[in-house]
Amino acid sequence: MILIQFTGLSGAGKTTLAEQVRHLLVQNNYAAEIVDGDVYRKTICKDLGFSKEDRCENVRRLFDVGRNLIEEKKIVLMSVINPYENLRNELRNFEFVRTVFLDCSIENLIERDPKGLYKKALLPDHDENKIKNFTGISDVFEVPKKADLILKTDAETVSVSTRKLYNFIIDNLNNAV
Ligand code: ADX
Repeated sequence: MILIQFTGLSGAGKTTLAEQVRHLLVQNNYAAEIVDGDVYRKTICKDLGFSKEDRCENVRRLFDVGRNLIEEKKIVLMSVINPYENLRNELRNFEFVRTVFLDCSIENLIERDPKGLYKKALLPDHDENKIKNFTGISDVFEVPKKADLILKTDAETVSVSTRKLYNFIIDNLNNAV
C-alpha cells in the first residue's frame, strides 16, 4: 500500500492533483482516498491554527486518518502544505510513505492566487484583513531535500502532472508494502 504525503505551498495544486489522480486510480479499479487539510481543518482539526505546533499537530492527525485508511488497503493522498522537513522525514520512516513535492514559484502563486489568500497575506501590517503567518510569504516553507517525486506545477499542465503521479503510484504500489 502507499500513502502519498504531498508537500507544497497553498495554491500549488495539491487538492487538484489529488482529485485528478484519485479519479484516474478509481477508473482503473484501485481504491484511493484523499485526506485534505482544507477539509479536516473544518472538522477534527478545527481547533488548530497555523503556529508551528498546530501545523505539526494538524499533519499528525491527518496522518493518523491516513494510516487507518492504509489498514483498509486504500491508496492515500494526504494533501497538506506540510512545511517542516523534520516532520516529513519522520513520516518517511514508514515504509508505505512517499513524499511528493509540488514545486511552484511564489511569483506564479501570487499571480494566480485562486483563493485571494496571497493578496491578503501581502496587505500592510495595519490592515485588519491581512492574513498573518502565511506560508511562503510570512511563514516558513522548508523545501524538501528528499522528495521521492517533484512535480513542477508552474511548468507543466495538470494532466501531465497527474499522469506522472499516477505512474509513480503504480510503480511504487508493490514495493511500498
Ligand atoms: S499545514 O501547514 O498545516 O500543512 P494545511 O494544508 O492544513 O496547512 O492548510 C493550508 C490551507 O489553509 C491553505 O491552503 C489556505 O487555504 C489556508 N490558510 C489559512 N491561513 C493560512 C496560513 N497562515 N498559512 C497557510 N495556509 C493558510
